Amino acid sequence: MSKPPSVLITGAGIGIGRATAHAFARAGYAVMVTDVLENEGRAVVASIKASGGTADFRTVDVTSTAAVDQTVADAEAIHGRLDCVVANAGIAHRVPLDQMSDAKWDETMDIDLKGVMRVVRAAAPGMARHGVGAVVALSSIMGVAYGWSEHAHYSAAKAGVVGLVRGLAVELASGGIRVNGIAPGYIRTAQALSREHSLGPEGLEQAASFIPMGRVGEPEDVADVALFLASGAARYITGQVIVVDGGLLVGRY
Ligand SMILES: NC(=O)c1ccc[n+]([C@@H]2O[C@H](COP(=O)([O-])OP(=O)(O)OC[C@H]3O[C@@H](n4cnc5c(N)ncnc54)[C@H](O)[C@@H]3O)[C@@H](O)[C@H]2O)c1
Repeated sequence: MSKPPSVLITGAGIGIGRATAHAFARAGYAVMVTDVLENEGRAVVASIKASGGTADFRTVDVTSTAAVDQTVADAEAIHGRLDCVVANAGIAHRVPLDQMSDAKWDETMDIDLKGVMRVVRAAAPGMARHGVGAVVALSSIMGVAYGWSEHAHYSAAKAGVVGLVRGLAVELASGGIRVNGIAPGYIRTAQALSREHSLGPEGLEQAASFIPMGRVGEPEDVADVALFLASGAARYITGQVIVVDGGLLVGRY
């Protein structure tokens, strides 16, 4: 019997990453759940296993090349190959320009942009050896269309993800690896619910009134698109960033 497909997801302890771990597990993938949040990540693994799925947890900070490389190697050793990586880990801290230190700028770039590159760099050689692979990277509407006051570093990193997706899609296509991105709109997670750094609960509910579909997104709305992009149904799609926003970008003017 052939082994099930496998996926590695960064930042999979909560939010969109967690929903993505569950979606892939339900679709029959063996899931390598990774996060800096150890308790949350282990809880996701326990929940997947309780539902009859296959999952492992590794503590991975995406700013650590050594941790990323080791965990990709572990996943390949356990599952024989990695079919997909979902580079999801991200932070969105509010920092006005007059308070922007070099360190603060670098932190966001290191996690939100370089962290994506690290995961793909580690996984691509194995995928190319097998002649097949899918990468899904998380951008944002703030990286493809909107400007976000006091979050210029976040917007710059998320716009960088779009460039990374395009460049790597072309570079890796001959190895059978497809590289795509998702640009979520307003999704109900800890990131968007943060009063300090983002909209907060009230702001999120207000956003529903100007989202054409009349509601804020749920993590599952994004997870299912990641699963689609990883699947054979998306076999001729590469280098694209799909906006998942309930019509926000096309409907607000
Ligand atoms: N929620 C939204 O509205 C929204 C919109 C657009 C884009 N996004 C993007 O989607 C992705 C997931 O966000 P979310 O909304 O689920 O946020 P979240 O805050 O709920 O989850 C982010 C995850 O990333 C992890 N993480 C943070 N720093 C890390 C690091 N250094 N190494 C490894 N993991 C780390 C966190 O521990 C957490 O598990 C992020 O890249 C985010 O920027 C979210």
